[in-house]
Amino acid sequence: MNPFQFHNPTRIVFGEGAADRIGELTSSFGGKALLVYGGGSIKSIGLYERAVKQLKDAGVAIYELAGIEPNPRLTTVKKGIHLCREHSIDIVLAIGGGSVIDASKAIAAGALYDGDVWDFFTRKAAIQQALPLGTVLTLAATGSEMNGNTVISNWEEKLKRASGSSHLYPKFSILDPTLTYSVPGNHTVYGSIDIMSHVFEQYFSQTTDTPLQERFCESILQTVIENVEPALANPADAAARANLMWCGTMALNGGQISLGMVNDWASHGIEHEVSAIYDIPHGAGLAVIFPNWMRYVYQERIDRFVQYAVRVWGVDPAGKSDDEIALAGIQATRDFFTRIGAESRLADFGIGEEQLDRMAEEAVRYGDLGSFKRLGKDDIREILRMSL
Ligand code: NZQ
Ligand code: ZN
Repeated sequence: MNPFQFHNPTRIVFGEGAADRIGELTSSFGGKALLVYGGGSIKSIGLYERAVKQLKDAGVAIYELAGIEPNPRLTTVKKGIHLCREHSIDIVLAIGGGSVIDASKAIAAGALYDGDVWDFFTRKAAIQQALPLGTVLTLAATGSEMNGNTVISNWEEKLKRASGSSHLYPKFSILDPTLTYSVPGNHTVYGSIDIMSHVFEQYFSQTTDTPLQERFCESILQTVIENVEPALANPADAAARANLMWCGTMALNGGQISLGMVNDWASHGIEHEVSAIYDIPHGAGLAVIFPNWMRYVYQERIDRFVQYAVRVWGVDPAGKSDDEIALAGIQATRDFFTRIGAESRLADFGIGEEQLDRMAEEAVRYGDLGSFKRLGKDDIREILRMSL
């Protein structure tokens, strides 16, 4: 285990009824809020009205930025920055999924930056400050509600880039699982696969002597696996929705489950290049790429893949070689993704080999990817080719 330090400042308010505290928590950061939301799901579930009433009752003046896209776009972020400056906004309030929260983070940082907010995503500038941010999460997936990351798409240039800063941790996040009852089946699946992928990126590590961290990871994977199908069968299954939501937050909240371990993140780097060009849901891309990444790298440290197969999927090791056990675990992952309804090939999205070179090249723009196995352009091209 490597040395580490950990500090996560986000206040989590979790449980049914937590959404009744939007007004109170927001108003403690000032009298002017920029309310940021997506394409309308918060209106159809009555959350918009509920939030506006609470904010008004708490004396908060509301300015709005609606229409954040899934895979949120730089042009929309810039509109939000303009609104913050024009109205001297005190707090950005994100109500939605990861896209809304990520856009709000970029807005909160961009509002206090004199240059172009895209500088934060091209590594030209580091985030030094941000407006306070509060979130109300409506989709279990990214962990953005309790981390300092943001991922933004520059649609004109077909680039999707991540940035991060300790200044971007939300001040508070309201996690009311009842708000996720309306999440459609496909986004329940994609969100769950994103959660599992965040764990994979940390669990498949070359760092040794980390039994507690490994078991944290395995327990999240098992909990997601146990709860996805109940949530699909009954979207208002309170226990399943609550468990998925908490798994999502714990899977990516500043690395709590993998402290002292070197992470990988190559599959995310590859997926971001796919969704940058083809605008597919992030979790859908991961469902295709991750099992192929696993097949490509598992021999780098087969004992971790054997452990994964046995502990997470219950593969019986008796009479099998390490290779057979590891591959059975990878196949179980693929079969599970397929069984819950995820796509298994890039071709399912009409993606062919036309852009493979470009995607591989952009993926390594800032250097090779990953640490479990270092991946250069040719490796990434091969994983993408396996995914066609
Ligand atoms: O736009 P609305 O109308 O709200 O609809 C959304 C959207 O169409 C809908 N939805 C959300 N909550 C709902 C709901 N529909 C019905 N009922 C509800 N309660 O779901 C759709 C997808 O939403 P989105 O926010 O795009 O999904 P997700 O949370 O998966 O976020 C994906 C984005 O996050 C980035 C991804 O790359 C992608 O851009 N990521 C952010 C990370 C982070 N900040 O740490 C890490 C991740 O690895 C990821 O890269
Ligand atoms: Zn992800």
